Parts: sequence; structure tokens; C-alpha cells
Amino acid sequence: MQELSLYPPSPEFSARAHVPDLDAYQALRRRAAEHPEEFWAEMAEKEVHWFEKWHHVFEWHPPFVKWFVGAKTNASYNCLDRHMARRGAKPAILFEGEPGDRRVLTYAELHQHVCRFANALKARGYRAGDRAIIYMPMVPESVVAMLACARLGITHSVVFGGFSAEALKARIQDLDAHLVITADGGWRRGREVRLKDAADEALAGCPGVRDVIVLRRTGGQVRMQEGRDQWWHDFEAGAAPDCPAEPLDAEHPLFVLYTSGTTGKPKGILHTTGGYLTYVTCTMKWVFDLKEDDIYWCTADIGWVTGHSYLVYGPLSAGATCVMYEGAPDYPAWDRWWEIVARYRVTIFYTSPTAIRALLKQGDAWPAKHDLSSLRLLGSVGEPINPAAWEWYHRVIGHGRCPIVDTWWQTETGGILIAPMPGAVPLKPGSATLPMPGIEAEVVDFHGNPVPDGTEGFLVIRRPWPSMLRTIWGDPQRYEQQYFSRIPGIYFTGDAARRDADGYFWILGRVDDVMNVSGHRLSTMEVESALVRHPAVAEAAVVGKPHEITGQAVCCFVTLKQGYEPGDGLAKELRQWVAHEIGAFARPEEIRFTEALPKTRSGKIMRRLLREIVTSHTVTGDVTTLEDMGVITRLASQHDED
Ligand code: WT7
Repeated sequence: MQELSLYPPSPEFSARAHVPDLDAYQALRRRAAEHPEEFWAEMAEKEVHWFEKWHHVFEWHPPFVKWFVGAKTNASYNCLDRHMARRGAKPAILFEGEPGDRRVLTYAELHQHVCRFANALKARGYRAGDRAIIYMPMVPESVVAMLACARLGITHSVVFGGFSAEALKARIQDLDAHLVITADGGWRRGREVRLKDAADEALAGCPGVRDVIVLRRTGGQVRMQEGRDQWWHDFEAGAAPDCPAEPLDAEHPLFVLYTSGTTGKPKGILHTTGGYLTYVTCTMKWVFDLKEDDIYWCTADIGWVTGHSYLVYGPLSAGATCVMYEGAPDYPAWDRWWEIVARYRVTIFYTSPTAIRALLKQGDAWPAKHDLSSLRLLGSVGEPINPAAWEWYHRVIGHGRCPIVDTWWQTETGGILIAPMPGAVPLKPGSATLPMPGIEAEVVDFHGNPVPDGTEGFLVIRRPWPSMLRTIWGDPQRYEQQYFSRIPGIYFTGDAARRDADGYFWILGRVDDVMNVSGHRLSTMEVESALVRHPAVAEAAVVGKPHEITGQAVCCFVTLKQGYEPGDGLAKELRQWVAHEIGAFARPEEIRFTEALPKTRSGKIMRRLLREIVTSHTVTGDVTTLEDMGVITRLASQHDED
């Protein structure tokens, strides 16, 4: 990826920012590096309420770590009770359903809802140490369910509502959950996503589940199993609106979130309470520069880690007002998000590059219809943001005024590890810039030795940080093997990266996405980024294809913008374009035009599937996270027609 331009923060932005300049950023980093215990103790005291203090800030016995050892706290208390005096009447959630229904929940109201639901759970015998699966649409009750569990110490695992019955069943079983909280359904592109039906199918294989609580959202017909299933409103009827939060150990398991690994079986990533809460609250200020009067909108679903850390726990712990939207960005039309930004006067907007590219493809007229002048900060997460999308986001959505925080992190890291502090760090489109305080990120070779700046290598984190995963649920061996064995004792991210002369990190994608063409290391991202700079290309996914002579050859799957037609002429032009943009060695062997790319439900392109298609012309691996199976069938059969 080449460096296009540098965007320093504007003096007006810096003047008001929590971290106003590079010196302030460097001072934080220095303190965290030199005195980590003091630094994190100070952050924990400042950002989190503790019922009892720790006797050790952290204990690191690689690969296992404990933070704030001996302390007691509660995530639900931190997100609600501690705000009551000052923020009781402040809106916590500004909710908009896809059909257009709207609700505002103040902190006091959210607190009451959570207490009532927690009391009902308590009355039914649920206690700290129990596990619950939450399989719900994007409605405020999903937040209520999470915070009610956290209040009692019930470890929750949210399963994204787009997951199939099969995926849900695997998660209920792996977690051995006795409680499932779900809904009749939710709205997506005007259609009902029938969650209870899928839950019923999953539950047929889960005899251990004792209670299924069902929220009425769509009003659709559902089957209720006598003795097991209950409506949410019946379940909590008569429960008192006041329920003290359990003082829990700082290392109490807060949630398990399943993510796909390299094998077919998903990994249950375990996050605990005190360190997680400290870190996500700090980063709300460092990265999102959150202020009391901000209207904050993270578009992620609660089913992903972004939803956990930056829609629920981070912003609510920091006392923010959060927008929550149930549905699709293109329903009823491609300006739904911009309409919402304008209606609620959103100031901070956080989304994914894949969404940005989809919106970009629809043209500038949609955002132009709405007043986006309230925006002051934009964010991006999930994959590298290609410079073309970055520039569009900056110019068309941010009107050139808003810094863009490109935030690098993972389900496993719990919070943002590499990102600009927007008042301090000049931006380079396509770079997640610099690490947070206390994050010892490095680019290393196979042996764990740092590589020179400008050279590609593996991204690792040398020291433990408060919000890191603690283990893989039920499989500590896999935890050690996956994350701490490649380079013993050091957290291996699985990403390739390069650090430039200014110390900026350029994430090049997963290491299994690295191609080697004639001995040249080439990132799939680099080629994709080049392709999407071409005016005809909407999206591109690139994989290495086995090649007799060069080892691997570059194979590109390309979708086109409206008004462009696939054809040999354009394929030739694109191959030439890439050769010109990167170098002749990068010239793609093959361009395959397609209507759509296979994506996970969180919008990540599943390159693994594309690799399988170009290698073996079939797909055998785990496809439970795939959004549209049809895409794969069409792509796989395309070869046979060739
Ligand atoms: C992988 C983690 C973190 C929440 C969403 C994804 C990629 C994530 C960036 C970024 C380049 C990024 C990495 C990482 N990734 N953010 N800003 N720039 N790559 O969580 O599903 O656990 O995926 O997403 O490859 O390892 P996840």
C-alpha cells in the first residue's frame, strides 16, 4: 500500500481533545511502558468503580494472565448505577427499529429494565457462574439481557442473529448453557428474521437448556414449548425494579464470544470483567475522544466483539448516548444511515470498510440528501481500509472536517490496540497508525526477532494488556497453541504488518492471505487496494493460486460499479493496471468478474473460500459464517463453464 497523503488533526479538534498533541500521546506511552503497574492502576481507579481494590495489578504467567487480582467490581454497575446521580436523565440508547419505530431509554430507565430482568433471572435460580446464550435482534432488550446477566455474574454468549440453527446449537452445546434468551424475530430488509424458529431447531439438540425467554418483537407466530419457553413480559412481570449488582471478582468471566479459527470448530474467546472494563472505557476517550455531549453511533451488531466493546460496555461505562439501529443500511433506501445521522445529530460514527465501500458504490447523491454537519469523528474497523474508500469517507461523509480513526483489533484483544488518538496523531489513509499506551506491538520474523522498518513480518504483542482474552472456553491447550506457540510466550495476532519509518503500522491482512509470487511477498490487500483504485471496480478479493513456475499466481475476484460491463478488454486493462500500480511481478494471472463476493455476516470477505475455489474448484471447509451460500455455488460453477 502506498502512502498517499498525511492528514494532521485540525487545531480546533486538537484544542478540545482528551489527548491534544503528540507529546501528550508519547507521555502516556512512556509511562505505560516504564511503569505499567502504576499506569494501569491509575487508569483503573479513574475509569472504573471497584467494590474492593486489587492486591496485584497483574500476574503474568505466560500464556495466562490475571488483572487487578483480588479486586471486586461489576460491569453492569459500571454501565448503569454509577451514572445515576449525574446521568440518570441522560439518554443511554436512542433506538430506531427498521420499520421506523423509535424509543429513547435514559440511563435511569435502562437501569430499571436491567434490574427487573435480573430479578426475574435470580428468582428462577440463576447465579454467578451460570451461562446464558443471547440470540436476539438489534433492539434495546438485547443490551438489557447482557447487562442483566453481567449484573448477576451469569456469563453470556451473544450469538449473532444471522447465524443458523446449526451454528447456534454448536455454541449452546460448547458453553453448556441452561438459559437461552431470544425473540420471535427481528426486521431485516423489510422481512422478518425468524429467530425463535431457528432457536427451536437448535434446541432440539440441546436437552440441557432449562429456560428459553422470548421477547415479542415482530409479533410473528411462534411455538412455545410448555415448561421451557416463556415470553419475556410474562417472565419479568412483577419483578422489582431494583436489584443490587453482585460484587464479582475482577477475573470473573463476563462473556464468551465465538469466532472462527482455522479449523471448522469455532473458538469461544473468553473475556473477564475488571481489565476488560478498564481498557474499553479508556479507549472510548483515547480513540473516540468521547465527550459528555457526544451522540455516538457504532453500527456493529451486538453479536460481534465490536458490538460488545463499543456499542455496549465501552460507551455505557463511559456514560455515552448511543444510537442503536436494528436493520439494514439500504432499507428502505441507501440513505437510511445518513437519515439517522441527521435525525439524531450523530457526532461520532463508527463502521466497517465493507459498509463504506458498499455505500460508496451507490454514489454521492444519497449522503448529499442529508445534513451530516453534526459529525466530528469517523471510525473504521474490521479490515484494512483501502485509500480510495478512506478518501470517500473523509470527503463525502466527513466533509473533509472529520478525522478517521482506523482501529485495528480482534475478538481476542477485547479492545482497540492500534489506532490514532485523533487530536494527536496525523493520519495516513490505510494505516491504523500507532499503538495505544501499554500495547507493545511489534513486527517480527519467524523467530520473533523484530524486522527493520519497512519490512513485512508478523504482528505480535509483547506484553499482556488488560482486555486480552484469558483462554479459549474449555480448551486452554488450543489457546496456548493458537496464540502463544508460534513465538513462545508472545501473543501472535495472525496478521502480517509493516511498520514505516514514522512507526506507523500498516496491517497487511491475515498471514494466510500472504501470497508469494516468484519469491516476492505480496499482500492480497495490496492488490485489492490497487484494483479498487480503478474507476470500474467496486470491490475486489484477491487470493494466491498455485502456479507451476511462480509458486503462486495472483487471482482476482472483482465486482464492478454500475455502468461497467465485464469483458476481456476490461480484464486486460485491470491486469495492466495492477502491474502499473504495484509492479510487473504483481500482474494478476486471472481476473474473474462476479456479481458478489462471499462474505461473513459481519462483512468480511471469506478469502479462504476463494482460495479453495481456485485451488480445488470446490469448497469443503466450515461455511457456517457465510452470508450467502449462493455466491459460493455460483463462483464454484463458474469454473466449469469456463
Ligand atoms: C481481524 C480480527 C475487531 C473487530 C472486528 C473484527 C482484521 C480488524 C482491522 C483494521 C486491518 C483489521 C485483522 C484482525 N482487522 N481491524 N483496522 N485494519 N485489519 O474482529 O473478526 O476478530 O477479526 O480483522 O485481520 O486480525 P475479528
